[in-house]
Amino acid sequence: MSLHVSDFTPAAIVVADEQARHVSARDALLDQAFGPDRSAKTSERLREDRLPAEGLALVALSAERLVGTVRLWNVTLGAGRPALLLGPIAVDGQIRSAGIGAVLMREALARAADLGHRAVILVGDEAYYRRFGFSAQGMDRLWMPGPLDRARFLGLELAPGALAGAHGLVGATGRAAVRWPDVEIFGRGERGDVRMAA
Ligand SMILES: CC(C)(COP(=O)(O)OP(=O)(O)OC[C@H]1O[C@@H](n2cnc3c(N)ncnc32)[C@H](O)[C@@H]1OP(=O)(O)O)[C@@H](O)C(=O)NCCC(=O)NCCS
Repeated sequence: MSLHVSDFTPAAIVVADEQARHVSARDALLDQAFGPDRSAKTSERLREDRLPAEGLALVALSAERLVGTVRLWNVTLGAGRPALLLGPIAVDGQIRSAGIGAVLMREALARAADLGHRAVILVGDEAYYRRFGFSAQGMDRLWMPGPLDRARFLGLELAPGALAGAHGLVGATGRAAVRWPDVEIFGRGERGDVRMAA
């Protein structure tokens, strides 16, 4: 069924916790948005074999149809500074610029703050993420475990000063995912899908 952007308003979108039944639609959406090489990204090194942060794997639904996805992941910024890594975020290509991305971002950041998280980092276009408060400020002494375009390495403090003095390698700290490679219903990339589908 084709979708049209005029059918959508942010108010008609429901943001919900991602469930096992969303896995295949989410995978298709991510393939559409990023292409099949999406697991080659440096951020994926912090997601592979991990589960998303508790309560922070969200989908945008329109009449039960999955039209957007965002996940956040537990990381540490150098030694002993917990934070979240945001991504991937994607919205169905037929209905972008209807505000769905903003609804997902705001809900994800509000939930992260409510859960007591202090900072969120991501690799993405500053031109999009600055509207949510992200900037390169405080990120210059942090490294990712792979190639990094520093202009796209952004952070947001949920608690004042949470990024002050941050330095070192960003490391994954999320719950380990159980891998069951024989079970085909599980998503590709981000092997956090595995436990969620169990
Ligand atoms: C980024 C994305 C999630 C935004 O979803 P969305 O529902 O279209 O977002 P919104 O409706 O809230 O905002 C749309 C606005 O953001 C702008 N925008 C979208 N992506 C942008 C980008 N990469 N850089 C700058 N601006 C961007 C749009 O041009 C639009 O501007 P307008 O309001 O002036 O028309 C969506 O474009 C997408 O899925 N893109 C492909 C995957 C991707 O690139 N994900 C982000 C990885 S960095």
